[in-house]
Amino acid sequence: MAALDRSAPVAVIGCGAMGQGIAQVAAQAGHPVLLLDSRPGAAAGAVQGIARALGKLVEKGKLAAGERDAVAARLTPASGTADLGDAALVVEAIVEDLAVKQAVFREVEAVVRPDAILVSNTSSLPITAIASALQRPERFAGMHFFNPAPLMALVEVIRGIATDSTVAETLFDTARAWGKAPVHARSTPGFIVNRVARPFYAEALRLLQEGAGSPATLDAVMRDSGGFRMGPFELMDLIGHDVNFAVTGSVHRAYFGDPRFQPSLVQQELVEAGRLGRKTGQGFYRYAPDPEIPLPHTAEPCPAPRGVEGDLASSRLVVDGVTLALTDGRSATRRAAEEGIADLVLFDLALDYTTTPRVAIAAADQASPDALRTAVGYFQAQGKKVSVLDDAPGLVVMRTVAMLANEAADAVLHGVASAADVDTAMTKGVNYPLGPLAWAGRIGLGRVAGVLDALASTYGEDRYRTSALIRRRVSGGTTFHG
Ligand code: NAI
Repeated sequence: MAALDRSAPVAVIGCGAMGQGIAQVAAQAGHPVLLLDSRPGAAAGAVQGIARALGKLVEKGKLAAGERDAVAARLTPASGTADLGDAALVVEAIVEDLAVKQAVFREVEAVVRPDAILVSNTSSLPITAIASALQRPERFAGMHFFNPAPLMALVEVIRGIATDSTVAETLFDTARAWGKAPVHARSTPGFIVNRVARPFYAEALRLLQEGAGSPATLDAVMRDSGGFRMGPFELMDLIGHDVNFAVTGSVHRAYFGDPRFQPSLVQQELVEAGRLGRKTGQGFYRYAPDPEIPLPHTAEPCPAPRGVEGDLASSRLVVDGVTLALTDGRSATRRAAEEGIADLVLFDLALDYTTTPRVAIAAADQASPDALRTAVGYFQAQGKKVSVLDDAPGLVVMRTVAMLANEAADAVLHGVASAADVDTAMTKGVNYPLGPLAWAGRIGLGRVAGVLDALASTYGEDRYRTSALIRRRVSGGTTFHG
């Protein structure tokens, strides 16, 4: 399959944040673009908005002035659906409402050419359900861009039950020709990113609820040790708790109440309080009138230990008689009891122990106060800051990455997308430092399964059940990436 010809006209319906961005991407790729919006003046306003965005690119030296004029000249406001008759591709980015989207596509289908491809940018509605209103659902698919569309590389190309595979391939190749990183996905709730990312927020909310650490501490650990660009609490504050809570709720309902996607009372309370995040001046953190972002917990200096047996790479070492071990999903207290060691301190997963500036640790309830000081001193002697957490099973980074990998594995198991595409979606769509499945391979799938099993046995919740595909890979001695 080939991408759409660059001279093929593209129509964008709905000229809000997403439609405007998508129109800019298509015009910069060389397509003549028609813009349509039901709000009077919105399409013309979007053309001006794109011209301003292009102007900023010229100022930053990212676009030649001549190119800006050529791109701007490809944009034309349309006055009604009847104007879209020549479009080879129609991208819809209107209000997120099934009945309204179906009505728009019925109108579109009545005027476009027989070979036109119709797509929706919906982030939550089933592609199959939108398509059911069409005479020819086989030429309909999802093309899910991320905000802001000109900057975010990922495009999820979503197939409904009736979508023709050649249509999906054409969209994939077209997205790639537009400079994007496309992935294929089957229409299932949340598609790839909005499903697989749920544990990033959900486990942090659980850890907060259980008093493992403050939002600032958990964020710092996820950023510094996990290598995530933003911590979960600051990211939820940025997205808006109303939006994030609604997405979690919709995925939870769509999976018939699967406890893996259960929304959080902590987040619900913020929504009820109107603390929606940055946009209202307060969420987990306060932004206005006087910004207040608390510091993460960072341990005071402790003396460097004298005797060290083993190293971090071996996941277990003994420092001045205190055992330090990488979390295996059990709490330090449970593990100390099961292994018969009182002075046990667990440390969290880090993306890279040589470069991580921070390590999170937790001591067993049985451990002496000196054991914690010894552990802090050891990591400080390695040049790390240390955040001491309460003894939460799986700690922060390990627990989150294990749950992300578990969800990613189930998405692969259920035929939503390939392992490679799931990992691409999470690195390109939400900037994770590694795809969850590649990361799980690096940690060791057996270890990831062990963490999940320990969480499941500790909490007794179906939420932590291990994906059958992870079990199969562990049994077969294979990974997700060859
Ligand atoms: P928006 O509210 O900024 O823009 C929607 C635009 O559609 C408005 O200009 C509105 O006047 C127009 N519109 C509404 N009904 C219409 C109709 N019947 N015919 C023509 N125009 C109509 O919304 P936004 O954020 O751009 O979202 C649009 C779509 O993209 C939704 O389906 C949303 O779920 C999806 N999406 C949104 C993302 C985001 O981060 N905002 C990310 C990815 C997808």
